[in-house]
Amino acid sequence: MHKHTQAAPAVPMFQRSACAARVFRRTATAALVSLVAFAGTAQAGEVEVLHWWTSGGEAKSVAELKKIMQAKGHTWKDFAVAGGGGDNAMTVLKSRVVSGNPPAAAQIKGPAIQEWANEGVLANLDPVAKAEKWDSLLPKVVADVMKHKGVYVAAPVNVHRVNWVWASPDVLKKAGVAAMPKNYDEFFAAAEKIKKAGLIPVAHGGQNWQDFTTFETVALGVGGAKFYSDAFIKLDPKALGSDTMKKSLETFRKIKSYTDPAAPGRDWNLATAMVMQGKAGFQFMGDWAKGEFIAAGKVPGKDFLCAAAPGTANAYTFNVDSFAMFKLKSTDAQKAQGDLAAAIMGPEFQEVFNLNKGSIPVRLNMKMDKFDECAKTSTKDFVDTAKTGGLLPSIAHGMAVKPAAEGAIKDAVSQFWNDDKMTVADAMKKIGAAAKTN
Ligand code: BGC
Repeated sequence: MHKHTQAAPAVPMFQRSACAARVFRRTATAALVSLVAFAGTAQAGEVEVLHWWTSGGEAKSVAELKKIMQAKGHTWKDFAVAGGGGDNAMTVLKSRVVSGNPPAAAQIKGPAIQEWANEGVLANLDPVAKAEKWDSLLPKVVADVMKHKGVYVAAPVNVHRVNWVWASPDVLKKAGVAAMPKNYDEFFAAAEKIKKAGLIPVAHGGQNWQDFTTFETVALGVGGAKFYSDAFIKLDPKALGSDTMKKSLETFRKIKSYTDPAAPGRDWNLATAMVMQGKAGFQFMGDWAKGEFIAAGKVPGKDFLCAAAPGTANAYTFNVDSFAMFKLKSTDAQKAQGDLAAAIMGPEFQEVFNLNKGSIPVRLNMKMDKFDECAKTSTKDFVDTAKTGGLLPSIAHGMAVKPAAEGAIKDAVSQFWNDDKMTVADAMKKIGAAAKTN
């Protein structure tokens, strides 16, 4: 697997994507823009797929998609860009599209799908979606994100839940912690015991997206679903400047005091490994962390524990991975794209991929008998929270707001995390200003 870690030139998204759009408009008349070859007789083609799945569990999961595509006779060209959360991958993608050389498919999610579609560079997946009846196979909340002006432009892979806390039963036992903490009083009491036992209470990887993952989960636990929705979906200045926001930031800062000094720059999967090896008690992370435990042969409930993060049992921050396809001219390439889209939504892939990835199938009515208790809890909570208003898009994982605002808020949150001298009031001002970024 080759890895592209170089950063693309710092050109703003819209400057770059507007340029990309021009490149594509020039060729639009010549190009066959929808995947009409899906049902046709075209030959097998090459499919270059950009993603950021490079950790142990992630690599195992994406290998399943490669296998399925190869079985259909297509050539898989892996375009893996290392970097959890996908920031590096998105930078590299933009430079590829601007240079007029997009990959066949790229991991793009949430509101960013709309931005790319607005540029006119995405292929129409409706021929596949209609033939395979995606509308009846997907929760509406997901289908809406995959469509641009009513037309499918992305294929969803899974549902990740972000508001989890993972724990080492060994560490909890050594420290005398009897149960997973249900609120922050219990959490800090447990963290104190773990510290006294000479172990690290919280495994954290100090990268902006990991800080933000922890922060949105803490804010959800402190403020509840309505506050989360006002602050991080509506970006309501009142919520962002509220006492609840203040309390969320204070709680977030307190968590930092239970991390180790080596956290800055650490990758998320290395933080998961600290829990796995019994060096640390807890990790706040989405359920791709479970993919790491599973890849290492660990058993949930025995070798590691999963629970909704403190105060969030009745809420669910979702993060749906999806692939958008770029308009390509060759009919072979289009055929491969159609097959890829169909494979992604197929029951075979949905099962095997999600068993490895730690997420749950996005396709409705899948059998869950091979899935573990964490996945079963996730499935039940997804359904239950959809009824009560507790089902919320993750802001840290590109589901809730446009990429520009997300990036600006994420940076402000990390500045606060990294600078112990920054006051909570200053952080609130910075976050409020960042939320206005367009
Ligand atoms: C993606 C996951 C991925 C994680 C860490 C998230 O944004 O949705 O699929 O495993 O980042 O790289």
